[in-house]
Amino acid sequence: MRRPATAPLARSEIYGDDGPDLDDPAELFHEASKLRPALARRQAAGIVRLEGNEALGAAAARAVRRNPQRRTLPLPAPRRPPCTLWTAIDRRRSRRSFRGAIDDGALATLLDAAYGLREPGRRTVPSGGALYPLELYVALRGRGVYRYDPELHLLEEHEVEDPWPAVTRASPLPSLVDDAAAAVLVLAVFGRTRFKYGLRGYRFALLEAGHVVQNLALAAAALDVVALPFGGYYDGCVDELAGADGVDESVVYAVVLG
Ligand SMILES: Cc1cc2nc3c(=O)[nH]c(=O)nc-3n(C[C@H](O)[C@H](O)[C@H](O)COP(=O)(O)O)c2cc1C
Repeated sequence: MRRPATAPLARSEIYGDDGPDLDDPAELFHEASKLRPALARRQAAGIVRLEGNEALGAAAARAVRRNPQRRTLPLPAPRRPPCTLWTAIDRRRSRRSFRGAIDDGALATLLDAAYGLREPGRRTVPSGGALYPLELYVALRGRGVYRYDPELHLLEEHEVEDPWPAVTRASPLPSLVDDAAAAVLVLAVFGRTRFKYGLRGYRFALLEAGHVVQNLALAAAALDVVALPFGGYYDGCVDELAGADGVDESVVYAVVLG
């Protein structure tokens, strides 16, 4: 079979006619977050600090945000749809024609697959140093915004107003979310991984968000729920939905469901 020709991108197509700026932030960050033998001692400072500090270790092992004064909503036990992993992989697609409401059983299954607790202290996804720097917020159309508590498998109320006007404002293409029912916002609490891994912790937070969204997408395929991974949102709008300051904490990925 003849392979179609690949289309190499000219540097000017990537960076514009003048090439990347000397202080291009993406390059600077990538360089600054590289592990190097010459810097190993300095770069391992967080790891050493963690080893010698029992209280820090205990806090790091319990990376879950809980506001006991907030109302909680129980979630049904996650379902186990009769779909093999291979069928889910084959079926997964980013679809944009949503089918409407998602019942709590499907929502519970999706959140559990995405970031649920397994044996004590572990989740459905890998995490650098098992630090779990992410929190999942779910904006439910007509209902409010909730934080998923993986330890207790419940929703904690974050905001009771209908989030959909805000979700719509967050999309550069508002009609995209017209018929959707929910949006899962993957919030990174950068400090939870940065205290140990320094700048590389930022890479880890993003990588881990990818693990979460892939689990969610495969579970959605198994449940026949439409799921659209969504990175092209206005950051300020989604951060506001999750109550994040956009600096220490920020939404790094989202999935629209329906
Ligand atoms: C990091 C990331 C961000 C994405 N952001 C958007 C988005 O903002 N809007 C959108 O319509 N699709 C978005 N997508 C979906 C892609 O368009 C889709 O994955 C791609 O077209 C391949 O199709 P498939 O997922 O069905 O295999 C995103 C996908 C990824 C992985």
